[in-house]
Amino acid sequence: MTTMDPIERDEQARSILRGNDRGSYTVPTAGLYPYQWNWDSAFSAWGIATFDPDRAWTEVETLMSGQWPSGMVPHILFHKPDPGYFPGPEVWGADHGPIPSSGISQPPVAATLIREIHKRDADDKRLRTLFPKLKAWHAWFMNWRSDKGAIFITHPWEPGRDNAPDWDAAMAAIDPVGVGEYARRDTSHVDPSMRPTKEEYDRYVWLVQHGRRLGWDEAAMAKDRPLAVADPTMTFILLRANRDLAHFADVLGEDRTEIDGWIETLEAGAKRLWNAELAAFDAIDLATGEHTGNVSNASFLCWYAGLDEPQMLAHLETTFEACRYPVPSHPVGTPKFDARRYWRGPTWAFMNSMIGRGLAEMGHRTQADRLRLATRDLIGEHGFAEYFDPLTGAPAGGGMFSWTAAVWLAWASPSAEVA
Ligand code: GLC
Repeated sequence: MTTMDPIERDEQARSILRGNDRGSYTVPTAGLYPYQWNWDSAFSAWGIATFDPDRAWTEVETLMSGQWPSGMVPHILFHKPDPGYFPGPEVWGADHGPIPSSGISQPPVAATLIREIHKRDADDKRLRTLFPKLKAWHAWFMNWRSDKGAIFITHPWEPGRDNAPDWDAAMAAIDPVGVGEYARRDTSHVDPSMRPTKEEYDRYVWLVQHGRRLGWDEAAMAKDRPLAVADPTMTFILLRANRDLAHFADVLGEDRTEIDGWIETLEAGAKRLWNAELAAFDAIDLATGEHTGNVSNASFLCWYAGLDEPQMLAHLETTFEACRYPVPSHPVGTPKFDARRYWRGPTWAFMNSMIGRGLAEMGHRTQADRLRLATRDLIGEHGFAEYFDPLTGAPAGGGMFSWTAAVWLAWASPSAEVA
């Protein structure tokens, strides 16, 4: 396997981000994902900030311009129609916001990555405009997705880990009756063995139809929830994002009392995700109250959230031993592990960037460096894929992926300025 010269990789990464630039927003990759995805876009902005901070600010401003009056920031903004994607705006029927969109959100990484943009370009004016929008979005999570501080998902697309085993039991309890005929588009772009199954897809679509029937009205949906799983992705990321939002309040001279209250609530919620039997942070199916029994790559976001846990370091060590390119989205060697199938095994470089930054911030330097170097090798040897086989590094899913290019520039490359 030849490793590409890092300077060439830097150039490629910039050219991917420029190629996926649609003017005021960046698509994850052409073809497979032709719109603005929420957390992809925030990661893209982090990468773009390394060479064009002004454009990075614009990226997050465009994202926040799709905010609904409720505070929710959608997971997809359908700026321009594209028949190559399913399910598009006509399937979602979610017309609450200024831009056609999906009806659910995604992990709120924006505040944390805006802080990185602000470090490079301390534009307090732009920050001041974004601050109330970010706060309203975080408030929406606290109002509609918090179970005593454990943040739950209502659709597997909400945490951005679509087919993770964490929701298998909750998904199996859904009977997608009446879902009807539909044509998937993802499997015409990517090998079906790397994508969710038909059984999973039927339920994804059925849940969209359910939200649509209820007019995407959160109060109505709260009374009729086919799926609710308290999730480490959402809980840890929102907790971290609130720490960064509180920092912005200090910078701007705004009151941080409410944000501090959220942080306290979320810290308590995060503790509830501790599965003593597994000795790990793990999702909880709120319908049954049962832990789901999975150590996923989201379990390792605890340090990113500012929570130290020695037993998670032991799991990380196991992960490092088990594969050449950690962190797998599901543990290698377990019955549900599938090295190429999306969130059931593959390694995602952008998840590694959050895990690695958290480790470094909490003083776990050795592990942080090890993960960063493994990610550098992965991208250096195998390019800017959507995700990778953790055992061989083989690229999987879409290619020329924005967030993989972005984390290369901002974190994994030898040229990245990493604290
Ligand atoms: C997939 C991923 C999700 C991501 C989206 C666009 O749905 O699971 O996390 O935001 O693709 O890249």
